[in-house]
Amino acid sequence: MKRIAVLTSGGDAPGMNAAIRAVVRTGVNKGWEVMGVKGGYEGLINGIFTPLGTRDVGGILQRGGTILGSARSEEFKTEKGQIRALRSLNEASIESLIVIGGNGSQKGNYALHKYGFPVVGVASTIDNDLYGCDITIGVDTALNIALEAIDRLKTTASSHQRAFLIEVMGRDCGYLALMAAIAGGAESVVIPEVVVDPEKIAEALTSAYEKGKAHAIVVVAEGANYNATALDAYFKEHRERLGFDLRVTILGHTQRGGNPGAFDRILASKLGAAATEQLERSNFGVLAGEVKGEIVATPLEEVINNPKEIDKALIDLAKILD
Ligand code: F6P
Repeated sequence: MKRIAVLTSGGDAPGMNAAIRAVVRTGVNKGWEVMGVKGGYEGLINGIFTPLGTRDVGGILQRGGTILGSARSEEFKTEKGQIRALRSLNEASIESLIVIGGNGSQKGNYALHKYGFPVVGVASTIDNDLYGCDITIGVDTALNIALEAIDRLKTTASSHQRAFLIEVMGRDCGYLALMAAIAGGAESVVIPEVVVDPEKIAEALTSAYEKGKAHAIVVVAEGANYNATALDAYFKEHRERLGFDLRVTILGHTQRGGNPGAFDRILASKLGAAATEQLERSNFGVLAGEVKGEIVATPLEEVINNPKEIDKALIDLAKILD
């Protein structure tokens, strides 16, 4: 191997830069040249490469976002886009590629693998919805951001004896919401994996009030069958009968911003290093992820064809602890 490339794709995640740094420094240590791809798969299609040496990735370990930029490329989903990307790689004499990203990004990576191009993935998404990994880069930092918001909302909720609804990210996966609910002591949690009846949420909030609680917090994942906007509308419509209304906070992209915490910097450093290790061993078409504290390589085919199940025991725990 002489020249490899690295790209970040999909929604950014705190810790992506630490992963880029690890790829570059371990790659250079193996005697390779490392090229950064600007702007995810869009940059790959258009051949926008920049050489990255060990000093080029200095001072980025603690920075959020991604120095390479990211994109959600529609063109790369097409065969034409993928062929153009392969041509760009070929023209730049790049022999293999590391893709740092979540589900959609690893689907793209698998497409290149099927054409026979040597690829490895690094598991990075705040959603934690990737099969083959217990926890992905960015989750821990995003969770702490959500938690800080919940703690702050709890104090004002207590002062006013109010019910608050907090929406966190998670398109198809309720991991972030469930963990934020457990760590933040929420009265109720609404996730995409469990269909919810708004009346049950109203019951949980009423019961919190009856128990003498000064606050009532509901954490909702954006992809739930009733997200914050839908629940807000429901509670407004039934305000008189239910006897209370909700204050709504949608955290949105704040959860993806800011500096990564220690956990994500360390995980990203390990996974970036594991990715170059897999390339060196010619173990292509795999995703570097962490399972039970060990760094493992799971075939991308398995990763993209299996849903990551939510831990039912944690759903039960959240109910008991409310
Ligand atoms: O994939 C991570 C994620 O943050 C999801 O939780 C969210 O649904 C989506 O990205 C938002 O995407 P965008 O930044 O493109 O609006």
